[in-house]
Amino acid sequence: MKTSFSSEFAKRYGLYALVTGASEGIGRCFAEELAKAGVNVVLVARREDLLHTLATHLEGTYGVLCPVIGADLASPEQVEDVFQITDQIDVGLIVCNAGFGTAGNFLDGDIDTELNMLSLNCVAVTRMVHHFGLKFKHKGRGGVVLLSSIVATQGVARSAHYAATKAYIQSLGEGLQQEWHGSGVDLLIVAPGPVETGFAKRSNIQLGKSESPDVIARQSLKALGRQKVIRPGVLAKVLSLALSTAPRWLRIKIMSSIMGSMTKQLPQ
Ligand SMILES: NC(=O)c1ccc[n+]([C@@H]2O[C@H](COP(=O)([O-])OP(=O)(O)OC[C@H]3O[C@@H](n4cnc5c(N)ncnc54)[C@H](OP(=O)(O)O)[C@@H]3O)[C@@H](O)[C@H]2O)c1
Repeated sequence: MKTSFSSEFAKRYGLYALVTGASEGIGRCFAEELAKAGVNVVLVARREDLLHTLATHLEGTYGVLCPVIGADLASPEQVEDVFQITDQIDVGLIVCNAGFGTAGNFLDGDIDTELNMLSLNCVAVTRMVHHFGLKFKHKGRGGVVLLSSIVATQGVARSAHYAATKAYIQSLGEGLQQEWHGSGVDLLIVAPGPVETGFAKRSNIQLGKSESPDVIARQSLKALGRQKVIRPGVLAKVLSLALSTAPRWLRIKIMSSIMGSMTKQLPQ
């Protein structure tokens, strides 16, 4: 059933949203929440089979259209393919969600994996935001959702490079919010704490308490156009409140100690 969000969304952003990393986790929940609200969603990720299954589910359940694009966004050529394929689609909102993390001591990690993460978490997002940002600015309307993290606001030992990729996103988003003020283009930075998805397994971290990904997606879409940064879920709120008055050196120590306890199983 379509909600009032549907017509509100179409008026504000257009007919289509595009979600990267829609095959699993938080991105899949963003796609579901958008479809539930009657918004057509372009689904992007590498595992096309999962995207097609999701598209069938969303189209059948919510009566929306869900084109599927299989792309490895760590590849600049494949990001370019996404731009070409969507050229004739009125995309009004992008959710730059695809990403992964690495953990453990930086020097123990594989440099190619680190650079692949940089390509996906930062370079691809920068390309997407520039490409669609130009279109949105020209139209005088649009929305961008960026996935930052609770680790983005200080250095974090044993996930140093992942935290740096999210600091990049946090800073990019904050700067663009100022540049785009009054342009009709909304930009929301989403900075969750631990979320129950495939992320922890791929990043080699062991989560204790974690938030459900649909909470992240729901609260983010509610905040879009109303807030600049959100820390969805109870965990992120409690943690960021606890850290808010601490000086940066102390935040580094606390977050590094938390990450240390999540990576005990990795070489010290
Ligand atoms: N989970 C957390 O605790 C947490 C906390 C804070 C922030 N975040 C951020 O939230 C975002 C989503 O993470 P998640 O927790 O939902 O992780 P997830 O469950 O592992 O999902 C990651 C998604 O990204 C896609 N993806 C990965 N590599 C890709 C590539 N090279 N090209 C295109 N798509 C790719 C995956 O699809 P394919 O494998 O099919 O390509 C998948 O759909 C990330 O940016 C992450 O940094 C997560």
